[in-house]
Amino acid sequence: MAKTRSLEAINKKLFKGASSLQATLEGMLETRRPLAVLEIGCGAGRALMELALAFRHEPVRFYGINRELGNPISSSADLARVAREYDLDVESAGAEWQLPELFFYDATTLHFSANSIDLIYLSSVARFIEHKAEFIEEVCRVLTPGGVAIIQLSRSGWDYPEGEIRDDLLVTRYPSRLVLTHGRDLVPLPKYLKQFAETGVEFEFISTPACVLRVTKRQAGRLSLGLEYDTVRSVPMTQLPYGQEDVREARGGFRSVYRVSDEGYKAMLDRLARLPARDSPTGGSEESQETSLPLTTPKPPRTVTSYRVGQRVKVKGKRGEGRSFRASKIRPNDDGLEWEELEGGVEWVDAATGTFGLLGCTVYVDAEYRASDTWDRAARGALRRGTLAKVSGSFRDGRFAPERLVIKEPHAVIVEEIQGAISSIDAASACLEVAGFTVRVDARTRIVTE
Ligand SMILES: C[S@@+](CC[C@H](N)C(=O)[O-])C[C@H]1O[C@@H](n2cnc3c(N)ncnc32)[C@H](O)[C@@H]1O
Repeated sequence: MAKTRSLEAINKKLFKGASSLQATLEGMLETRRPLAVLEIGCGAGRALMELALAFRHEPVRFYGINRELGNPISSSADLARVAREYDLDVESAGAEWQLPELFFYDATTLHFSANSIDLIYLSSVARFIEHKAEFIEEVCRVLTPGGVAIIQLSRSGWDYPEGEIRDDLLVTRYPSRLVLTHGRDLVPLPKYLKQFAETGVEFEFISTPACVLRVTKRQAGRLSLGLEYDTVRSVPMTQLPYGQEDVREARGGFRSVYRVSDEGYKAMLDRLARLPARDSPTGGSEESQETSLPLTTPKPPRTVTSYRVGQRVKVKGKRGEGRSFRASKIRPNDDGLEWEELEGGVEWVDAATGTFGLLGCTVYVDAEYRASDTWDRAARGALRRGTLAKVSGSFRDGRFAPERLVIKEPHAVIVEEIQGAISSIDAASACLEVAGFTVRVDARTRIVTE
């Protein structure tokens, strides 16, 4: 089944429980109709279908864009099949109900006309887009006046503080996927974007530590962010040698660096000078937030009891003896999927029986999966001892049966990671049971709870 989040998981990513796409749409329907809604990077279209079915009695037209064609959808008609796989009740919508309309291309440039879409949303997509500023301008162009876009721009580590750039390669020790510079200085994104409220586009950062941007277009017109793409410093994140001392998650996506023009920089300073002190954005940096916070009661230290049984987590670390795993970092996994995952160096391969070893487990690739395209593409010739592999699937009868296999780019250091739901918590021995492993926590383990 395609790895695409449910509507609930996307809502959680975008709004962290404070609102939802349904509530946003219901609010809009009170003042205007018909409406047009677009999901960018809709994957298999699961959330798009759930949303479209929820509003099937309302005058709302739904559209989706995805860069990849196929695997598993190549046309709007495929959406109905995928929806049935997810047990969505497509039949009750009736024959006259229109499926969302799909398009397959790179959404940096949109084919929709100006002022035509009321709500645009995207989750886990923008970080792959190279020209992010041009993409945001394009989203603003197609939004209707009064329209809203909810853009998850990055994962954690996006809110680099003001200061000098670190060096020409890394630029900042924060692994942000969108960085603005002016000369040798870093320009925090929230500060820079404030100035556009006067030209009719409001930017708000609604969810942290992930970077979710709500864009509200107040009036018709074209937004120009006044940013120049830095072709030298913009690179895939995998090319950046982030180390232990760097702040938060560095993997995946594309780092886009832009130069702020002198006029843009001046406009930002003018705008900030006119803001009342309490509205002045801090630039989002941990450093500046720490110094401006009022004194509060210190929070209790995080331990294994910061989690609950049943909660899904990602654990990075190193496998020990047998099925023990020493955790260097644990964080909640809100990808909305039910799978268990193992990632590490392949220990052995037995092509004859379709088995291989990963983190001390035997992974059984059944004949049906071995005959599939996915397996063929991922594994043909590439699966051998030492390869970095990630399998997603489930433990059944003591065997790990993958539904998905990804062969990863070779890394100098093999990453070992497990994912799954916590099946038990032992506070006395500081252990969690996850995906069949006993995860040991010690003073050096980073315990992230949000
Ligand atoms: C990680 S998946 C996320 C899928 C879904 N939004 C979710 O949250 O489960 C990223 C999706 O974005 C699409 N994508 C990536 N870059 C894109 C681009 N430049 N234009 C359109 N789609 C893109 C990919 O094809 C893929 O389906």
